[in-house]
Amino acid sequence: MNIPFWEETYKNDTVFTFGSEPNNTIVEFQYLFNKTGNILDIGCGDGKNSLYLAKEGFLNIDAFDISENAINKLKRLSQKNEVNINASVNDLCSFRFEKKYDLIISFGTLHFVKKDSWYKFILNAKENTVVGGFHIIQLFTDQIPASFDIAPFTVGLASDGEIKELYSDWNIIQYKSYVFEDEHPNVPKHLHASNKIIVQKEK
Ligand SMILES: C[S@@+](CC[C@H](N)C(=O)[O-])C[C@H]1O[C@@H](n2cnc3c(N)ncnc32)[C@H](O)[C@@H]1O
Repeated sequence: MNIPFWEETYKNDTVFTFGSEPNNTIVEFQYLFNKTGNILDIGCGDGKNSLYLAKEGFLNIDAFDISENAINKLKRLSQKNEVNINASVNDLCSFRFEKKYDLIISFGTLHFVKKDSWYKFILNAKENTVVGGFHIIQLFTDQIPASFDIAPFTVGLASDGEIKELYSDWNIIQYKSYVFEDEHPNVPKHLHASNKIIVQKEK
């Protein structure tokens, strides 16, 4: 059975699988977010973004991932950093919203489920966001083929710009379409095509 490369580094607390720095869009726009608002991190992995927000004083962070190794690691790292993150094992295809969120983030995750599943998830997430709330979504597109490290798991690549269409009724604060070079522990350099969007619910 094929196991994604990140499962190995999720067992190791001394290395961040996807880098230790938070995504730059979070840093750039964090001034817009309410420190007491409800935040949800979808496919949080070993939690670089949730940990950053928690260390910056954001108080109500839920984070989930399908990987038990990821969630166990994030729980250990939260304890070590003396921050509170409500981390749980969940599949975004069956996730049930139990509250409304002020900020929902997802980096590098949606393309690992089929397109109809992530569409359904986004529509559901939009419903479960307060008016004035934000989403930041980054996912890979089929502008170039999936790289060798993730190809077996990449079942839902977006078309370029598709994510923008899903948010055409929200205020699009920033949208980017780009190709970037990536590298992970024990995985050589490779390219991904990506869309990233930050949007706000207006009504
Ligand atoms: C490339 S990693 C990104 C991790 C993190 N968001 C970051 O930016 O560092 C993708 C993550 O998506 C998770 N994932 C894949 N399918 C998932 C699903 N159906 N539900 C929840 N998480 C999923 C994987 O376990 C993995 O941790």
